Amino acid sequence: MLRTVEQLIEGADLAGKRVLVRVDFNVPIDDGEVTDDTRIRAALPTLRRLLDAGATLYLVSHLGRPKGAPDERYRMGPVARRLSQLLGREVRYRATAGPAAPEQQAFVAEAPAGSVTLLENSRFDARETENDPELARVLASYADYYVNDAFGAAHRAHATTEAVARLLPSAAGDLMAAELRALGRLVDEPERPFVVVLGGAKVSDKLGVLERLVELADAVLVGGAMAYTFELAKGGRVGASLVEPDVVDTAKRVLATAEARGVRLVLPADSVCAETLEAGAATAVHPSGAIPDGWMGLDIGPEAVAEFTASLQGARTVFWNGPLGVFETPPFDAGTTAIAKVVAGLDAYTVVGGGDSIAALNATGLQERIDHVSTGGGASLEFVEGAELPGVAALGAD
Ligand code: 3PG
Repeated sequence: MLRTVEQLIEGADLAGKRVLVRVDFNVPIDDGEVTDDTRIRAALPTLRRLLDAGATLYLVSHLGRPKGAPDERYRMGPVARRLSQLLGREVRYRATAGPAAPEQQAFVAEAPAGSVTLLENSRFDARETENDPELARVLASYADYYVNDAFGAAHRAHATTEAVARLLPSAAGDLMAAELRALGRLVDEPERPFVVVLGGAKVSDKLGVLERLVELADAVLVGGAMAYTFELAKGGRVGASLVEPDVVDTAKRVLATAEARGVRLVLPADSVCAETLEAGAATAVHPSGAIPDGWMGLDIGPEAVAEFTASLQGARTVFWNGPLGVFETPPFDAGTTAIAKVVAGLDAYTVVGGGDSIAALNATGLQERIDHVSTGGGASLEFVEGAELPGVAALGAD
């Protein structure tokens, strides 16, 4: 069992102690402003609890995918400002060359007791993604304890999620614990029928989870461009739709496993197609396995929406990850929005993960009706797939 923050506070007097907290503040930023602060809000309970216990906090996160060196586009400044507004207190931040840079170390050393400091982007340091012990050692020197609340990054074995956890007494943050509990309900004797809605562009990103889900679920509804790779595997014609010819054989295997296990793997019967991917492009609806040359399937069609809706009725557990069409380009958002409304209206245990599906859900205003909206994209998929998450495994190490 992982140690929780509550247990950490019960077991040790944190007043005057320094805690390094790994958070997932990998949030969208536009023009210097955070445009979706869901992940920042999700970390607040852990931060407040630690502050109430009298701790001094050093927060560390990655932001985007800078290439192991400072990159002005990915500085943590906008995140520090937003966090400060949400916490209602000062968040110390200094733009530095990285979380272990000499000027960062000096800034850390000056932190007053009980303050909150947000370190610079962990991926400005190339050693972060190498899970480098020396970087971990410097970060561990900042603190007496380590708390990991970054569920969204728990599938990465990086210095701030893995190596550092082995150097300090550690605990799982409230968000981390809540995510593991909520997602655990999907894999641990889910109430049936268990229906999965899986979308997104690439089958290759979701193969592992698909192979597991066709063993776990009663029905898997597949949308997004990945559906066209499955259509190819079934011998369909998909026109100019996005496909991954390299994984057609694997797609065939997934289809065969689903059939052998009596799991319904439902592909969209029809698709909303266009010749160009542009907002307001001329569209036509075609069967997903008979798309004319030069046309691309860009959203699930009306028949598919009806069939997915019918398949979801009566479900007792639902997991949804990935948009069902090119959600960011109207009118190809319609299928995703329609299914978001259906999922939100179900009398079932519902879990949604992945940035685009969450954005679709938020656009309907019905997110409050979902039991668990995961802050993890890749992490939630790997968890459901049954993989051990390095960031979680390392917490059990001391
Ligand atoms: C995410 O956004 O899924 C997490 O923050 C992990 O980001 P990454 O895929 O760049 O490691």
